[in-house]
Amino acid sequence: MELNASSLWVESISSVFCLLFFGFTLLFSLFSLLVFLLRLKPWCNCEVCKSYLTASWTKDFANLCDWCTHLLRKSPTGTIHIHVLRNIITSNPENVKYILNTNFDNYPKGKPFSALLGDLLGRGIFNVDGDSWRFQRKMASLELGSVSIRTYAFELITSEIRGRLIPLLSSMTGKKEALDLQDVFRRFSFDSICKFSFGLDPGCLHLSLPISEFALAFDTASKLSAERALAASPIVWKIKRLLNLGSEKKLKEAIKMVNELAEGLINHRRKVGFADNKDLLSRFMGSINDDKYLRDIVVSFLLAGRDTVASGLTSFFWLLSQHPEVESAIRDESERVIRPSQELTSYEQLRGTHYLNAAIYESLRLYPSVQFDSKFAKEDDILPDGTFVTKGARVTYHQYAMGRMERVWGPDCLEFKPERWIKNGVFVPENPYKYPVFQAGFRVCLGKEMALMEMKSVALQVIRSFNVRVVDPVQAPRFSPGLTATVRGGLPVLIQERESSTNHHHHI
Ligand code: HEM
Repeated sequence: MELNASSLWVESISSVFCLLFFGFTLLFSLFSLLVFLLRLKPWCNCEVCKSYLTASWTKDFANLCDWCTHLLRKSPTGTIHIHVLRNIITSNPENVKYILNTNFDNYPKGKPFSALLGDLLGRGIFNVDGDSWRFQRKMASLELGSVSIRTYAFELITSEIRGRLIPLLSSMTGKKEALDLQDVFRRFSFDSICKFSFGLDPGCLHLSLPISEFALAFDTASKLSAERALAASPIVWKIKRLLNLGSEKKLKEAIKMVNELAEGLINHRRKVGFADNKDLLSRFMGSINDDKYLRDIVVSFLLAGRDTVASGLTSFFWLLSQHPEVESAIRDESERVIRPSQELTSYEQLRGTHYLNAAIYESLRLYPSVQFDSKFAKEDDILPDGTFVTKGARVTYHQYAMGRMERVWGPDCLEFKPERWIKNGVFVPENPYKYPVFQAGFRVCLGKEMALMEMKSVALQVIRSFNVRVVDPVQAPRFSPGLTATVRGGLPVLIQERESSTNHHHHI
C-alpha cells in the first residue's frame, strides 16, 4: 500500500516534470520561431520576395534555378538579394573570387548548413570549418595527390565499367523496354565511391540491379538531411528530431544503419590489418586512431563523390542526344587516340582526349552537378560589386546561372559548344572563378581529377560500344530539390549495339 502510494507520488511528480518540460520546449520553440521570422523580414514586399513567397515564379519557370538565372541576368551587378531568405545570390566572377579566396575566412560554411548534415556527416571534411577542416584538407590532399591512388582509382573504375556497366548495357540492347540511365549511373558511382573510400563493394550494378541496403540507407539519410532545408524554419525539424517524429525518425534509423556498416568495416580492418589496402579509409587509418572521426571523414567522401558524378553523366548523355555531331566528334577522336580494336588501358591515354575533356567541361558548365552553393558571412562586409553583406547573411554563388550569363560566356552562352574550350586542338582551362563548378579557391573540390577521369572513362567506353537513344529527348531536364541536380523521372533510354563495335565491347 505504502509502496503504491509512493510510486503514485513519483509518477505524478514525473508527469508534472514532463508537462513542464514540453511546455518550456514549446514556448522556447515559439520564441525561436518568432526571432527567426523577424530576422527573415517576412513582410518584405519587393517583387522578388513576393514572387518567392507566393511561388508565382513557377508560372514561368520549370526550375527554381531558372528563375534565379533570369533575375541574375536582369541585375546590373549580376547579384540579387532575396530579403525574406536573407540570401545574397551572385553570378559575378569577381564576387566569387572574393568569397572563395580573397576573404575566404569571412565565408565559412557556417552553422545553418552544417546543422542540416551534421547527424549524417559528423565532423567530416565536407561539414566543418576552421582547424578541423584544415587538418583533414591537408591529409586528404596529400593522399589524393599521390600517383598510387590515381592508379588505384583508374583500375577500380575500369573494372566497374568492364565487369558491370558494359555487360548491363549489353543485356539491354535491342530491348523495347527503357532503361533509366540516371539510376544506372547512380549505382555505378555508388559502387565506385564505396570501393574508393572504404574498399567495400556494395555491388549495386550487378546485372540483376539488386537493392543494396547500404545504398538505400545512405540515400535515405542524405535525402532526408537535405530536405531539412525545406522546412519553414530549422526549429521545425529540430522539434521533430527532439520528439523522434516522422522524417526525423526515419533519418535517425537510416543513419544508424550507415553507422553500423561503417563501424563494422573499421573494426574488421583494424583486426585484419590495413597496411596493404589502397582505399582512403586504410590510408587514413595510419594517422588517425579515433574510429568515429575516421567514419565521419570517409562518409563525407561518399556524399561528395556519388551523386555529383551520376548527375554529371546523366546530363552529359541528355546533351549528346541533342547534339549527335558532338557524339561523332568524340568517336572520331577516340579512334585516333585509342585504335578501334584496342581498349582504354591507362590514365595517360585519357589525357590525349582533348575534345572529350572539352565536352565534359561544357556539359558541366550548362548542367553543373552542384547548382549553387552557400556560405554564411562571419562579419559585415562589402563584395567587390558594392553589395553590402550583413553579419550572418547567407551568400550564395550560383554555378547554374553563371553558365548561362552572356556577360560571363558571351552571346552563345546557352549553346552546347565543346569547341569553346579548345585552342589549336588543345584543351585550355578557364578562370576557375568564372567556372566554379568544382568550387574554387581554398576549398576547391578534392575529387575533381577523379570525377573527370570517371566521367571520361564511362563516356568513352559507352559511346564506343553503343548508341544510346533518349526516349523523350525534347523534354528538357526538370530537377528535384536536393544537394545535387537530380532529374525528376530519371533519363529513360533505349540501347542499341553499334555495328562497328559488335565484337569490340565483349573484350573491352
Ligand atoms: C562531377 C563531379 C563533382 C563535382 C561537380 C563536384 C563539385 C564539388 C563542389 C561544388 C564542392 C564544394 C561544395 C561545398 O563546399 O559546399 C566539392 C567539394 C568536395 N568534393 Fe567534389 N565534386 C565532384 C566529385 C567529387 C568526387 C568524385 C569526390 C571524391 C573522390 C569529391 C570530393 C569532394 C570533397 C572531399 C569536397 C570537400 C572539400 C573541402 O571542403 O575542402 N568530389 N565538390
